[in-house]
Amino acid sequence: MRIGVLGTGNMADALATHWVRAGHEVTIGGRDAHKAEQLATRIGGSAKPAGLRAAAESGQEVVLGALPFGAGVDVARELRAALEDKVLLDCSNPIGPGFRLLTEGGPSAAQQLAAAAPGAHVVKAFNLCHEDVWRMRPPVFDGRPLAVPVCGDDETALVRVRELVQDVGCEPVAGGGLERAGLLEATAALFIALWVGEGVDAQAIAPPLAYATGPNHQAAEGGAGAFR
Ligand SMILES: NC(=O)c1ccc[n+]([C@@H]2O[C@H](COP(=O)([O-])OP(=O)(O)OC[C@H]3O[C@@H](n4cnc5c(N)ncnc54)[C@H](OP(=O)(O)O)[C@@H]3O)[C@@H](O)[C@H]2O)c1
Repeated sequence: MRIGVLGTGNMADALATHWVRAGHEVTIGGRDAHKAEQLATRIGGSAKPAGLRAAAESGQEVVLGALPFGAGVDVARELRAALEDKVLLDCSNPIGPGFRLLTEGGPSAAQQLAAAAPGAHVVKAFNLCHEDVWRMRPPVFDGRPLAVPVCGDDETALVRVRELVQDVGCEPVAGGGLERAGLLEATAALFIALWVGEGVDAQAIAPPLAYATGPNHQAAEGGAGAFR
């Protein structure tokens, strides 16, 4: 795939490194040409530096937005013509001081990106873990690859993002349509508050699947009856 990356920070570095190793052609786009050059050189292989617009234009299949929430929406609006018909992969977390969800009561960050670049196929993924987890080769815990929920509305876009999740060494999980991306963003706010604020292992808050819906084990059959 030809992938454009918007941003030269931690998430751009972590994810682009996997994708270059997997054989994709990656263009690293930054507002600071020197940082784009530095990151592309560090990643090596197919990675090329560019400006933000050139990176969006070069990402023929997928453009990763690896920018802070507000800046990402502004940049997507500015580049909306270049993003037309492309997958816009959103890993942003609209989380402010006190682990507050900045989008509370309104559209999610992913929905705001979709409104800013209406021709793009926005997919939400990769927002639930720290950059250092995404740098792992691969992110496997207790022998189990990390599961990555993916939310989006366009089936072709979802197929591409699932492939990119696998290229990181993870298992894609269906998270539903883009209207559910806000749940992933809220989950990140909760997890970060538990990890950083409380020192609690967020992994411990969910039971194994077999116990998820009570003694009838309806989760395994696809039902959620025990919650009603
Ligand atoms: N880091 C994590 O562990 C993590 C995990 C999951 C999700 N996320 C999400 O991923 C996104 C990126 O995070 P990150 O950790 O990679 O951030 P980062 O290291 O701070 O990098 C942010 C990048 O955005 C650029 N940028 C900032 N404001 C901009 C603007 N107005 N216009 C154009 N470019 C701008 C920065 O450019 P300059 O260097 O020139 O300022 C930099 O290249 C965020 O939405 C974050 O919530 C982060």
